[in-house]
Amino acid sequence: MINIILCGGSGTRLWPLSRTMLPKQFVRLFNNHSLFQDTVLRNQPVCSHTFVVSNNEQYFLAVDQLNQITADSAQFLLEPVGRNTAPAIALACMALDADDLVLVTTSDHLVKDQAAYETAVIQAKALAEQNNLVTFGIKPTYPEVGFGYIEADGNDVLSFKEKPDALTAQSYIEQGNYYWNSGMFCFKAGVFLAELQKYAPEMYQACLDAMPKTGCKTEIRIDLEMMNAISEDSIDYAVMEKSNKVKVVPCDMGWSDLGSFDALFEEVKQPGQDNAVLPRLEDSPEPICIDSKNNLIVARERQIALVDVEDLLVVDTSDAILISKKGSSQKVKEVVAQIKKQT
Ligand code: GDD
Ligand code: MG
Repeated sequence: MINIILCGGSGTRLWPLSRTMLPKQFVRLFNNHSLFQDTVLRNQPVCSHTFVVSNNEQYFLAVDQLNQITADSAQFLLEPVGRNTAPAIALACMALDADDLVLVTTSDHLVKDQAAYETAVIQAKALAEQNNLVTFGIKPTYPEVGFGYIEADGNDVLSFKEKPDALTAQSYIEQGNYYWNSGMFCFKAGVFLAELQKYAPEMYQACLDAMPKTGCKTEIRIDLEMMNAISEDSIDYAVMEKSNKVKVVPCDMGWSDLGSFDALFEEVKQPGQDNAVLPRLEDSPEPICIDSKNNLIVARERQIALVDVEDLLVVDTSDAILISKKGSSQKVKEVVAQIKKQT
């Protein structure tokens, strides 16, 4: 099985940790590794090779981070501009054989239970061998509107709804037989491409046209004009909401999409500790906290000190500081929008 790693997102909700030139998936978070590096390592036991789909600009960063953790080389498909996940996955699948089994993963998520993960992948692989498009279902804990929802009956999928409104998400949670879509998929390359051709024929054709007919197979570069001609859409809207070949493997693997500093707080906090301190980079000083509790502290280089404060998110980087109330971190993307307006 081949691990296609989608690496093109920008992750604006983790500013200032995540930047245009260093998107969330490449930021060192846990064990001095980036989420991208953790993704590669997580999938090595279940996949024979790594296929990275990323933006041209992040190529050297990705190669560098790969070399730090593995001697194995990876295949690359480089996009001059992102057109969202459906084209990214389609182009990668077009570079493979129709019968190749692929495990498509995001590059910016956390999975804490490796054994449960591997069990789920093995189950998904068996379903994918029977020509299904397999999703991984996570038990929802709150009505998140940024996720896809899978209505399930065992492994069967009754419906797939991407990013519902808040009321709909709430009703799904109450009904009980809905899962969050984890953003990972398992299928045969050819089965996915046939479904894409059926439900998004123009996108399929534009991707086919954009695939270089000759040249290096291990480092595929897509032409800018050809890429611009591909319409923009996610796999979730373009295929998963429409296909009747979708299956789900429900799993409990300690999954988080780390989509905000509030989510990061939940992952970093340790029982018995007053504050959640993101493991520091080498040589950075230990934060000092006086009568302060329930804060997230992300310290990269400088000395951080908190006195008599509670429920704050404090994120310090070399050229920007974020201080936010806990619970408000979804608004960080508005900061990024303002910065973009100013520059
Ligand atoms: N190569 C490439 N090109 N990768 C991309 C592109 C692109 O144009 N756009 C996004 N990605 C990568 C991101 O880096 C991320 O790893 C993954 O694809 C998913 O993209 P997101 O933009 O983060 O998707 P989302 O969070 O809105 O929704 C998806 O994930 C949710 C779970 O976190 C969907 O699959 C939802 O259904 C799901 O619940
Ligand atoms: Mg995401």
